[in-house]
Amino acid sequence: MKVLVATEKPFAKAAVDGIKQILSDANFETVMLEKYTDKAELLNAVADVDALIIRSDKVTPEVVDAAKNLKIVVRAGAGYDNVDLAACTARGIVVMNTPGQNSNAVAELALGMMIYMSRNKFTPGTGKEIKGKRLGIHAYGNVGRLVGLYGKAFGMEVITFDPYANPEVCQNDGVKMVQSVEELYSNSDFVSVHIPATPETKKSLNYDLLSKMPKGAALINTARKEVVDEEGLEKVLAERADFKYASDVAPENLAQLMEKYPAQVFATAKKMGAETAEANMNAGLAAARQIVDFLVNGNRRFQVNK
Ligand code: 3PG
Repeated sequence: MKVLVATEKPFAKAAVDGIKQILSDANFETVMLEKYTDKAELLNAVADVDALIIRSDKVTPEVVDAAKNLKIVVRAGAGYDNVDLAACTARGIVVMNTPGQNSNAVAELALGMMIYMSRNKFTPGTGKEIKGKRLGIHAYGNVGRLVGLYGKAFGMEVITFDPYANPEVCQNDGVKMVQSVEELYSNSDFVSVHIPATPETKKSLNYDLLSKMPKGAALINTARKEVVDEEGLEKVLAERADFKYASDVAPENLAQLMEKYPAQVFATAKKMGAETAEANMNAGLAAARQIVDFLVNGNRRFQVNK
């Protein structure tokens, strides 16, 4: 079996070594395609492989069409909005993610961004503490839950809105579930966003919702830029000098926002939530193991296109 590791945003070397070791122990061949800039390189590299490991690399219908032997795609990470599930399903290709493997890295960054914005982007002047503030977790999955737990350790009150969350888990964590997204945003000094980008969620964080946030509030987005309605965000920033936005996924209108509201806006230069040695290792090795377990034993536990 031949496995392509196609990571436009490469893994740390130790993670690549670990992936190769797992695949070679199973007598699989590993082919690397890292830091590529031209999608033609990906189309060429997938042509004869049985399995594909990716990060945020796009698996389009064109890629699926080029991958004549492909049986499985594993997205080494949580979100799989970069994979055309319909095209894979139509070809009988199994798609998996590696849930939870990079969550800690993303959660730590969310907390870091909260403190950074509360301390005026580390510029001189009087900031605010996050202790005693209310933290709203928008979706209580692997990342959201960790952000909530870390927030509690900082002395924050934590609430969440997630219709799919297990009420018992929230109760045991000491996290109050609220009944609507409006209730979450109206009552949170910080909202940490952890919803996936789907047709339903895209642009759902709009002017009406964001303007409900209390005075001095900050929105922290380590999820996907597509879930924010950027025009609505800009309108809130223009109307409220007290409102802040920090994002690990630079908005399309970042240059404009930075020029007009430099103290209120922050975005990382390149998405870096999962960019730690540990997260690279955890997600990369899990992806390699899942491929072996599927191709050798037929294990489909993490399949997302059922
Ligand atoms: C994820 O969905 O797992 C995170 O957003 C990290 O994505 P990345 O592997 O593209 O950095």
